[in-house]
Amino acid sequence: MFRLQGKVAIVTGGATGIGAETVKIFVENGASVVIADIKEELGQSLAISIGSEKVSYRHCDVRDENQVSETVAFAVEKYGSLDIMFSNAGVAGSYLTILDLDLNKFDDTMAVNVRGAAAMIKHAARVMVATKTRGSIICTASVACSFGGSAGHEYTTSKHGVVGLVRSACGELGAYGIRVNSISPYALASPLTCDALDVGPAEVEAMAHGSAILEGITLKANHIAEAALFLASDESIYISGHNLAVDGGFSSVNRWLPRIQK
Ligand SMILES: NC(=O)c1ccc[n+]([C@@H]2O[C@H](COP(=O)([O-])OP(=O)(O)OC[C@H]3O[C@@H](n4cnc5c(N)ncnc54)[C@H](O)[C@@H]3O)[C@@H](O)[C@H]2O)c1
Repeated sequence: MFRLQGKVAIVTGGATGIGAETVKIFVENGASVVIADIKEELGQSLAISIGSEKVSYRHCDVRDENQVSETVAFAVEKYGSLDIMFSNAGVAGSYLTILDLDLNKFDDTMAVNVRGAAAMIKHAARVMVATKTRGSIICTASVACSFGGSAGHEYTTSKHGVVGLVRSACGELGAYGIRVNSISPYALASPLTCDALDVGPAEVEAMAHGSAILEGITLKANHIAEAALFLASDESIYISGHNLAVDGGFSSVNRWLPRIQK
């Protein structure tokens, strides 16, 4: 069954990791997709490897509002509408202590993770409102949106900001039938985590296993892509303002008490 038949999507940060898996699964489900990223070579080669007229790469630095509005215009011109915005581009930020916080680095992280998401929501919503499209806007947050201590200060602050933005925007955009949600993944191996921790995918997964709640499964990018597919499709037609944790229970459990043994 094609769950996104005839729909048009933009996926920011679509060249690698969670975004790339989402591009593939959206296309498999009948959508036309614009991969919006700054990793030109990876984005182009993903589009070529999928090998369909329904996928295009577009250079889009989400920090630049002109590039954001041009990317939205490109999607509408090429594919005729915009139904789904997956605002997923993100950076890990630094791991500096609060005592040594570099506020320029702080601004850089906020510029991508929060300001970039705001720009994507703004320009996607403008076109959806103008064309009376009951669209779906999805942002990638993180388990770091729920508490401190699971990432650096900049990243934690930015992901709290993403969820605040989603809640705020969903109130206004609901009047136009537009849904706005976020997804909060637990840690998984991707270029973002491997680069931030300076280790390979196997080590990231081993570290993630160390504090995971759900045993017997390793979180992969395609699990997040499946959640994005659900929120993009009409199966979630009355879900808005929701932060969907894909974290195996991580954000629901306080590990202060020892785990109950089987
Ligand atoms: N990997 C994890 O453990 C994890 C956990 C929770 C949330 N996330 C979030 O998931 C999202 C995707 O990350 P990922 O893990 O797939 O990492 P990734 O590094 O594979 O993907 C991030 C993508 O964003 C792009 N990007 C960065 N800055 C950009 C900019 N200014 N404009 C446009 N694109 C830009 C990168 O080029 C890259 O393709 C991010 O928002 C991240 O914060 C990741």
